[in-house]
Amino acid sequence: MPEPMQSALDPFSRSALRAVVAGLSGLDPGIEFDPDAFSVAAPPRPELGDFAVGLFPAARAFKQSPAKLATRVAEQFMPGDHLEDARAAGPFINFRANRAALFRHVVQATHSGVGLISTAAGTGKTICIDYSSPNISKHLAYHHIRSTVIGSALANLYRAVGYRVIGINHLGDWGTTHGMLICAFKTWFEPQPANAEELNRLSLTIAELNELYVCMRRAIEAQRDELRRRGIEGDPTLESQSREWFKKLEDGDGEARGLWQKFRDVSWAEFQQVYRTLGIAFEEVKGESEFMSDVPAVLDMLEQKGLLAESDGAVVVPAADPNTPPLLLRKKDGATLYGTRDLAAAMYRWNTYQFERSLYVVDRGQNLHFSQVFDALARAGFDWAQRCSHVPFGLVRVGGKKTGSRSGKVVLLKEVLAEAQRRAVAVVEDNRDKVGTETNRNHVEEISRAVAVGAVIFANLSSQREKDVDFSWEQVLSTAGDSGPYIQYAHARCASILRRAGRSDGGPSKPGPSRPDDDPGALLQSEYEWALARKLIEIGSVVHRAAHQNEPHLLSRYLLDLCAVFSRWYTAGNQDHALRVLCDDPDLRAARLDLVAATQHVLARGLGLLGIDAPEAM
Ligand code: ARG
Repeated sequence: MPEPMQSALDPFSRSALRAVVAGLSGLDPGIEFDPDAFSVAAPPRPELGDFAVGLFPAARAFKQSPAKLATRVAEQFMPGDHLEDARAAGPFINFRANRAALFRHVVQATHSGVGLISTAAGTGKTICIDYSSPNISKHLAYHHIRSTVIGSALANLYRAVGYRVIGINHLGDWGTTHGMLICAFKTWFEPQPANAEELNRLSLTIAELNELYVCMRRAIEAQRDELRRRGIEGDPTLESQSREWFKKLEDGDGEARGLWQKFRDVSWAEFQQVYRTLGIAFEEVKGESEFMSDVPAVLDMLEQKGLLAESDGAVVVPAADPNTPPLLLRKKDGATLYGTRDLAAAMYRWNTYQFERSLYVVDRGQNLHFSQVFDALARAGFDWAQRCSHVPFGLVRVGGKKTGSRSGKVVLLKEVLAEAQRRAVAVVEDNRDKVGTETNRNHVEEISRAVAVGAVIFANLSSQREKDVDFSWEQVLSTAGDSGPYIQYAHARCASILRRAGRSDGGPSKPGPSRPDDDPGALLQSEYEWALARKLIEIGSVVHRAAHQNEPHLLSRYLLDLCAVFSRWYTAGNQDHALRVLCDDPDLRAARLDLVAATQHVLARGLGLLGIDAPEAM
């Protein structure tokens, strides 16, 4: 998705630099080129400059050689408030920033709360993001966390760049499995509730529901084997009974509905506990069941457009490509399917929100499903179908095997969270013992919760979305190395430095009375400080890229890099007293504290976007 021009908010942003280059090139500003291809990076060596702008895409659009373009830009360049120098370097133009101006910008933008992330890209636009969307009556297994935390981070990222975000939990609360569950409950559950009142009072857990479902699958399998052995054609009785129960459910039968509602309530209550622990929320929770009433109209519409066909008594949308299987919309027995409800839900989302984009954060196993659904919508003549995209992610393997409720190999999400909490308490207490009094006993609980959740969330957001991940307790609960808690520690360290300096952040320092004309930015002269400021300013473009590529891990990596740059400065101060943040010169000290405060701000903001808390002390 092209990234529109940002406001003049950040004079060092990619858009600002792009505008400078466009202005100086003297070429027709109306010519468009892919702005995503417009690269801004740090030059390979710092003495070459601060921002290297690649001119290939612009040169292609202007039908010029990039080197010529670079030379022209360099010739026309005049030093200004923010940029001091521009030099052509082959196909690149290297700008040198006015360092004091950049320091000032970083400190003021972070302190004023305006921040370093422009909201221009998404202002006035709506994006729907379907995430988490688990199936009721089944365990929330650890792999469900992928959709949940990736989707929620994307929601935060899009919000940060200005979009109105509608986070949607499309609960899987309909389909033939619910017929199986009702059938299993009626067959095996003891004691059966005698009436609605008793059903209401019945205490039931997802674990029990899951168990009933698994039993039913096994029993049907066993019956099928038995029939096969005896050479009898036909369906296992439990399977046809389940189908009947689902039929009743679709027809609105009171008993079927009552049981289904109970299972749904039990499931939702448990899901909510996990969402609360993870700090995850949705703008809309709508089960698949809510789209039932739209299904006949959707089928009529597709019929009128000549898109439906019959296959073995079932209703399908044949794919345009003969090698792709058709999208199944109604089974022989009249039951509707997952895809049918997704068509109805997509139309509802369009009619309700007129989205700019509509994303589905769902595992890669559903690639085919989504391409069929979007293809059917496009062929039905809906232009907005091209605004819909599947945002797939890789699988979680446990012990080398794909997890899933059928293979039986599941790690439960709530178990992971509980274990994470247990380990985090140990880490926080250990740390408290080491550093002494800073962490109050009462805070251990609260902080360890933040650490636990931070570890688990970060473990899921630190590698590329589409990569498969191997579940390991060590990686998921890691609090050291490339982990969420490592970033939380860096943040708490910033807070602690400011506290020690008696500044819980009173704002950027003013020039001290000793040197009234001094710009605090101009006092920061070390390369460590400069590297830090240069890194801080990148958050704006990182967040834009992470949102537009649907890759939260870009932000995770950035935060780790930022911690490394901060820690290099901090460590240098331990070795060389002249570099210490809390140095003797009051003006320099104030300027350095400003930089620490800006770092704290950016770390907290970045963690917040990933869905991770940033405690002030740890
Ligand atoms: N409930 C589905 C599952 O667990 C995921 C639903 C994703 N969203 C959608 N609109 N299909 O596989």
